[in-house]
Amino acid sequence: MYFKEIELRNFRNYIHCVQSFHEKVNIITGDNGNGKTNLAEALYMMCLARSFRTSREKEMIRFGESFAFIRTVFSRDDRSLRAELKLSQTGKEILINGVKRKRSDLPLYINIVVFSPDDMKIVKEDPDKRRRFINRELCQIRPVYYEALYRYTKVLEQRNSLLREERIPSMMMDIWDEELAAYGAKLILERNAFLERLDKISGEIHRAITNGKETLKIEYEADILPQPDEASQKAVFLKALKENSEKERIRRITLAGPHKDDMKLSINGIDVRRFGSQGQQRTAALSLKLAEIRLISEETGELPVLILDDVLSELDQKRQDFLIGYLKDVQIFLTATEVKESLLERIGAYYLYHVDKGVISLLSEKK
Ligand SMILES: Nc1ncnc2c1ncn2[C@@H]1O[C@H](COP(=O)(O)OP(=O)(O)OP(=O)(O)O)[C@@H](O)[C@H]1O
Ligand SMILES: [Mg+2]
Repeated sequence: MYFKEIELRNFRNYIHCVQSFHEKVNIITGDNGNGKTNLAEALYMMCLARSFRTSREKEMIRFGESFAFIRTVFSRDDRSLRAELKLSQTGKEILINGVKRKRSDLPLYINIVVFSPDDMKIVKEDPDKRRRFINRELCQIRPVYYEALYRYTKVLEQRNSLLREERIPSMMMDIWDEELAAYGAKLILERNAFLERLDKISGEIHRAITNGKETLKIEYEADILPQPDEASQKAVFLKALKENSEKERIRRITLAGPHKDDMKLSINGIDVRRFGSQGQQRTAALSLKLAEIRLISEETGELPVLILDDVLSELDQKRQDFLIGYLKDVQIFLTATEVKESLLERIGAYYLYHVDKGVISLLSEKK
């Protein structure tokens, strides 16, 4: 799929903007703080109805305004479609071709892989960064996951607030346990299947980037071990909750569950989370992102859009070339404060834009 056009109203520092895009490469330049990442964020909102950099949604509404609006025309299956999202103080409204839809419907139409400096750190940083990576990808390809994650997070919050109370009615706790285990079981099984596939695909890509020198392996470090089916998964989860109940009353927080999961990345048998060099971590992050693109396209039959927000300069020329060569058919949005002429020469066709205080203009194009 690819974006043909976007319209923004009161979105961050954009007052009003309508911009059409190149089917392949769109390069957005501009000084710091002018709206490059804001544009990337607006595009990403049309995929998961959430930002890749904040969980405080109202932040995206332009200061002093009451709503933000994003409309996009995109192509999928050779059809031209329209998606609209209105963000107000009271919530979000999503329309596809004028019909009201749920947020979890968006990734049935629009898929995006974003690669930002934050993702570059995914290998080294805390497990929550890796869980967020898993969540973002699974929400796009598995609507059941999107739903289960949303519910699990809500139930977890409620269960934690119950644990903070002085007296905990056991009937209430039983209800939350049941729900947490039911949604949690789905998450564990989906993650298990996803990480197995991700392991295979990213392993191949990583070998190609390193000319066969490095073998990347991904393993699911599940807090509650995966079981063969949902019923037994739920039973094992419930058992863990019961076993932890004494400790939880002292610590006043839910101790077991997929909110504690991690994924292990190793290169040639060595844990890169702890021992990987900076270059190895970057290459591993790149392999993961490229694997995501392939996984999404295998799952949905359409290539996702790739957003490279400020990351190209962090990759050396060899990796940049691998990336550009690998992504010939993918629509790319690439942001940077400046681009080198040598990079432009290596890209076949593109539009080059400049953004200045929330105003985008087309600088040049190569067809
Ligand atoms: N809700 C908002 N209303 C108005 N302006 C906002 C809002 N949120 C952020 N901004 C402005 O948007 C600008 C940041 O935009 P953005 O993050 O897109 O910059 P950038 O071009 O990606 O910069 P950098 O090169 O530093 O990454 C800041 O100037 C900030 O004040
Ligand atoms: Mg930025």
